[in-house]
Amino acid sequence: MTEGFPSQEGNVPLDDDFQLVNKAGDAQRHDYGIPLAVLAELTHRCPLQCPYCSNPLELESASNELGTADWLRVIEELAEIGVLQIHFSGGEPTVRKDLVQLVAKATESGLYSNLITSAVMLDRAKLAALAEAGLKHVQISFQGAEAGVADRVGGFRNGHAKKLAVAGWTRELDLPLTVNAVMHRQNLHQLPEIIEMAYTLGAARIEVANVQYYGWALKNRQSLMPSPDQVDECVRVVEAARARLEGQMEIDFVIPDYYALRPKQCMGGWGRQFFNISPAGKVLPCHAAETITDLRFDSVRDHSLAWIWENSPAFNAYRGTDWMPDPCKSCKFKEVDFGGCRCQAYALTGNAGNTDPACAKSPLHADVFAIAEAESLADQNRFIYRNFSGGLEEGK
Ligand code: FES
Repeated sequence: MTEGFPSQEGNVPLDDDFQLVNKAGDAQRHDYGIPLAVLAELTHRCPLQCPYCSNPLELESASNELGTADWLRVIEELAEIGVLQIHFSGGEPTVRKDLVQLVAKATESGLYSNLITSAVMLDRAKLAALAEAGLKHVQISFQGAEAGVADRVGGFRNGHAKKLAVAGWTRELDLPLTVNAVMHRQNLHQLPEIIEMAYTLGAARIEVANVQYYGWALKNRQSLMPSPDQVDECVRVVEAARARLEGQMEIDFVIPDYYALRPKQCMGGWGRQFFNISPAGKVLPCHAAETITDLRFDSVRDHSLAWIWENSPAFNAYRGTDWMPDPCKSCKFKEVDFGGCRCQAYALTGNAGNTDPACAKSPLHADVFAIAEAESLADQNRFIYRNFSGGLEEGK
């Protein structure tokens, strides 16, 4: 799963007068010459069935995945165009039998490699082999603080216990650990325990990432959307934990966009610093870009990465600020948040070129807040689990 790719920054914090409080600055100009990091989605296969998975609804079959030779070539190209970090993700990247080989290639090419994993398919020997191949960091997703909630959300029995074991091995092997906690209405009550769990596991960092609603999460929005009261409590819990654990564990925090006043600077700006490579080799400006069905994406099967980064019409569609409509065009924050999230604009307005309704300046902002509040109170708690046949309703 791809939640928690570190490029998906939180909502830009502003005071009531829309004055910039922090972030941004001169470094945020749209000089998008060199991508810094790539999310390599090796496969969409995954034993978990999380109802908020950021993979597209139409998952790529194993037979259409890039082969080992293609990935080895792509990793070389990444280094050539200046990429510094590779995040191996999926689906579940440890499904791939060539993962150790790919990590070794990344190491040889001078790339910092991170494994984004559900952890349930790892054993200690495999993790040690990855460390030996030069893996630098492990990020494990947790669905709750204990097995009852966590295994239900992930749709995978005994997954939570396995994750705890793998987190322990990660630290034994002296690899830095990040806990990725995707939060929503049905697990937010466990947030204090999840933060405590991450600390006890020796995580250097926890991402408290409220669900972002596109793809599978949009399909499950009624079952996942937290109430405004839950979000307020979540903010309080995070602030208290940050004060208590300062200098011991970093806490990243993303609130649900629907309750934000300002949009997040998604992916550091479209086509500006980051990109994704899908299992089939399509190069995407973000992990959810395939939800924008009127864009076409170029593939590493047909073009070099250097060509795609510069010339792909999908990348150039929303780069910089020239594409922006009002109110973005005349907004003083346009080079701070770059108009927010294109995938969310598409999901909520049908046009990826519209202002992200997460922004209070969008004419749709109040409607979106009202949708969120109403759905958070809906008596709909059953998930539609992610799978290769369009989803499976919980209990069926
Ligand atoms: Fe925000 Fe795609 S997820 S631009």
